[in-house]
Amino acid sequence: MPDEKTLSPIATLDETRQFMRRRLHGIVPESDIDAKAQTVQAINQLKREKNAVILGHNYMEPALYSTVTDHVGDSLQLSVIAARTDADIIVFCGVWFMGETAKILNPQKTVLVPSKEAGCSLAEGITADDIRTLKKRFPEAVVVSYVNTYADAKTESDYCCTSGNADKVLSTLIAAGHRRILFLPDRYLAANTAAKMGIPFLPSEAEASAFEAVPGDQPLVIGWHGTCEVHELFTPEQVDAIRSEHPETVILAHPECPPEVMAKVDISGSTKAMVDYIRDVEAPSYTLLTETAMSDNLAVEFPHRNILRLTNLRCKHMNYITLEDTLEGLQKLQYKVELAPEVIEKALLPIQRMIAIR
Ligand code: 13P
Ligand code: SF4
Repeated sequence: MPDEKTLSPIATLDETRQFMRRRLHGIVPESDIDAKAQTVQAINQLKREKNAVILGHNYMEPALYSTVTDHVGDSLQLSVIAARTDADIIVFCGVWFMGETAKILNPQKTVLVPSKEAGCSLAEGITADDIRTLKKRFPEAVVVSYVNTYADAKTESDYCCTSGNADKVLSTLIAAGHRRILFLPDRYLAANTAAKMGIPFLPSEAEASAFEAVPGDQPLVIGWHGTCEVHELFTPEQVDAIRSEHPETVILAHPECPPEVMAKVDISGSTKAMVDYIRDVEAPSYTLLTETAMSDNLAVEFPHRNILRLTNLRCKHMNYITLEDTLEGLQKLQYKVELAPEVIEKALLPIQRMIAIR
């Protein structure tokens, strides 16, 4: 019999439906669940037959997140799991750069992302050529790329990081004596992390005089002009409006939000940090400034917590991943992440360094 939180891979259609009804009660209407149960059962059966593992990012919609995934988490957690899995096939229910990271860690395995459309504005915002140009301009700088980059950009990077370990990566580099750190491509993550650590930040397009004003023996974080098309839309006015309506609520925001938003919220953190906070810290209510599905998933996970759920900001890329596409992906073994061996070889080291700093 399925337990409270895990659906047995050999569950019958009726058991699948009952599990989904219990788990998603109050979040997804029963009529919707009944329409999805067959797809969920078929995915779980195929997964077993093909020795596949399904990794689900915290932004997956609740009917997928809570039913067919073997592991869920933020980018860092899922990278660690991808590095350790002994499954033959990794199905990454997340966006394309996440599938690439899993492939770089497992070049011999089949890695699938169920939709080719699942991109990311940050990953699309910088290329290997851009980084080569920056390195010419700042030859003394060490290059840290957010994991939200494509593999070609990673080949030009010294370290990768996620929002879950950006501060630890910066501390490690400063302790090792680096004083100029190119932190790419998310301007807001770079500025927010630098501010949290008390390190000056300059965008790469700043005037030469601004760079000259920072003594060479002092750390400086240099950013790029990438942004997340979802998180950049949160505003300080929105935070004020939530606070005046719900003065008791704890507001948690992803550090891809603009600095003027971060200045007004209570907690900044990766999606895993948000999960941990809501699990561990009791509050009258919680409001998350991040992709909307995440709040739905936390409402499923922590039914005793009062999570105010915003509805206006969704990541279209994450939302391309559906149960139906996941089933088709397993049936047809699509869409395979393929990378040139030399790209895999060069992109591996910065990813391994990222995983080592936690
Ligand atoms: P996390 O690593 O915090 O899960 O963030 C990934 C992401 O794409 C945020 O928009
Ligand atoms: Fe990329 Fe933003 Fe979507 Fe995350 S929410 S995948 S950073 S576009």
